[in-house]
Amino acid sequence: MTAVPLDSFRAELERLRADAESALSAATDDTAIEVARVEFLGARSGRLKAIQKSLGGLAGADKPAGGKQFNEAKNAITASFEAARNRVLSSSGLQSESAIDVTLPGSPVRLGHLHPLTRTIRRVQEIMGRLGFESVDGPEVEDQWHNFEALAIPAEHPARDPLDNFYLAVARGADPLLLRSQTSTVQIRVMENRDPPLRIVSLGRVYRPDTADATHYPMFHQVEGLLVEPGITMAHLKSVLRLFASSFLGGDVHVRFRPSFFPFTEPSVEVDMEWGGRWVEMGGAGMVDPAVLEAVGYDPDTVSGFAFGLGVERIAARRYGVDDIRDFYRNDVRFLRQF
Ligand code: PHE
Repeated sequence: MTAVPLDSFRAELERLRADAESALSAATDDTAIEVARVEFLGARSGRLKAIQKSLGGLAGADKPAGGKQFNEAKNAITASFEAARNRVLSSSGLQSESAIDVTLPGSPVRLGHLHPLTRTIRRVQEIMGRLGFESVDGPEVEDQWHNFEALAIPAEHPARDPLDNFYLAVARGADPLLLRSQTSTVQIRVMENRDPPLRIVSLGRVYRPDTADATHYPMFHQVEGLLVEPGITMAHLKSVLRLFASSFLGGDVHVRFRPSFFPFTEPSVEVDMEWGGRWVEMGGAGMVDPAVLEAVGYDPDTVSGFAFGLGVERIAARRYGVDDIRDFYRNDVRFLRQF
């Protein structure tokens, strides 16, 4: 077998090197570079690999020179390959130092804020606080006594119907528990633990079997107010509600009472407020029924009191001009961002 002449080996290497350089300098994207890499530097069937195999065909004395030339060509092609890759990367902006332009304005951090219902609750607490009403909390999971019986709503009372729902599973024989249907429960809890005089407000969630529509939802919030002292009358009730409404809505707000019925107040009224030429129902109120005062151990001959319960969503909707309370719960930032 005749040996491969060193000259033709070198000529072959030179041709390969020129081909590789022109392919790489023409490459403008990753794909073209990869195609060139496989063609020239590919470990199995790359053209460089093929030439490396023909090294073995050189005459023994030519082998060191041939090997040296081979290595030079291989290094040169590898360097061209790196150069081409950097060129493509930087033109796509990935590695360029100018990819971050520090003179551009930064992206603003958008600050959140309190939910309009939370804002309303805090504002109610603040206004009522100025009138001397302390803010207290009560549990959302209630027993029958606080949700119904102590409020003069016995088991067979028709007033239970619209409220009676959302019972929790309890052990057989245990007292049933339910999600409270009104914040009036807190009146009882406070009166059981404290002596008059008493001025409290309690704000929180209540639950009812209501079908959701623009003014109803199975969960909503109430403000409960309770004042018990000697000599309290309906005039105090109306004054407090009017002061509250005027502070909350701003301007001169009128309050109207319509006769109503609640088992735990006597007399009982529905409370409407007029603001901007429109009357809106805001909740219920009345004088605490003497039977309730007795049930918590107060003497109805020495103290009297009033109580009211207003819908937080309703007063918030009124104040912010919202006409569907479901918007408060949808968590759509396009809605919430407006407040
Ligand atoms: N708890 C009553 C309701 O939810 C409202 C109310 C509160 C009425 C206090 C009278 C006194 O409808």
